[in-house]
Amino acid sequence: MKVAKSVAAFRNWRKIRTGRVVLVPTMGALHHGHAALIRSARKLAGRGGSVAVSIFVNPTQFGPNEDFSAYPRPWYRDADVCRTSGADAIFVPSAGEIYSPEHSVVVEESTLSATLCGQSRPGHFRGVCTVVAKLFNIVQPTHAVFGEKDWQQLAIIRRMVRDLDFPVGIVGHPTVREPDGLAASSRNGYLSAAERAAAPMIYAGMRAGAEKKSSAAVVATVGRAFAGIPFARVDYVEAVDADSLAPLKSRRMPGRLLAAVFIGGTRLIDNIPLPPRT
Ligand code: PAF
Repeated sequence: MKVAKSVAAFRNWRKIRTGRVVLVPTMGALHHGHAALIRSARKLAGRGGSVAVSIFVNPTQFGPNEDFSAYPRPWYRDADVCRTSGADAIFVPSAGEIYSPEHSVVVEESTLSATLCGQSRPGHFRGVCTVVAKLFNIVQPTHAVFGEKDWQQLAIIRRMVRDLDFPVGIVGHPTVREPDGLAASSRNGYLSAAERAAAPMIYAGMRAGAEKKSSAAVVATVGRAFAGIPFARVDYVEAVDADSLAPLKSRRMPGRLLAAVFIGGTRLIDNIPLPPRT
């Protein structure tokens, strides 16, 4: 497995690849959810193709009071997850390799980013789009795999690829969950034992809401369920159209239920489908 720390070293590896090159962009702290993304990238790449994982804790997508410095960077464990899950290369640049000190060009999606996490984390999706666009330019993947756990991010990346004509197939991978239903996330490691015990109530509350017949009843049911979660402070709960992220007017249309909840000091997000009801 190739480990490339610079753009030049990665491009040397890339230029002799034939077949599909499937990118799994990550910020490291890889868990079994990431391992599943890499394994699915491996299948997608096929026998003649290659899988590249990028590991870069992207400073521009963190707000001033967020966890950029504290974000875990367990390099040896990450390299192991990549190797055992079928990666052929890891691109692990420094911040200086990605952003020149005077960088002044950004990529900004202006509609889908204005809601949900975009409201609570101003500038977050600008940072995500900018770094993903740069990774696409450096890696030149034929495909890229993103987790559906970050549903809004996935919708925004699809929009960016469509609107800026990136020749990259975007593949969403279903959310990987712990046995108790909690969505796998690097941030779960921040939870105390008592908070970790409470966190699965997010998914349970969302599933209870998804049974309801109207969007308003879905959101109200989830809100009531969340009110009973110890240590919880709700950021948002919304039923939206799965692609446009506009409020879901009717449960006759397929939708998505998205939520962000602080458990203690840790902000967790989750989403589930809202299949159409007749
Ligand atoms: O989902 C993530 O881990 C990050 O937002 C991404 C896509 C790697 C960009 O930094």
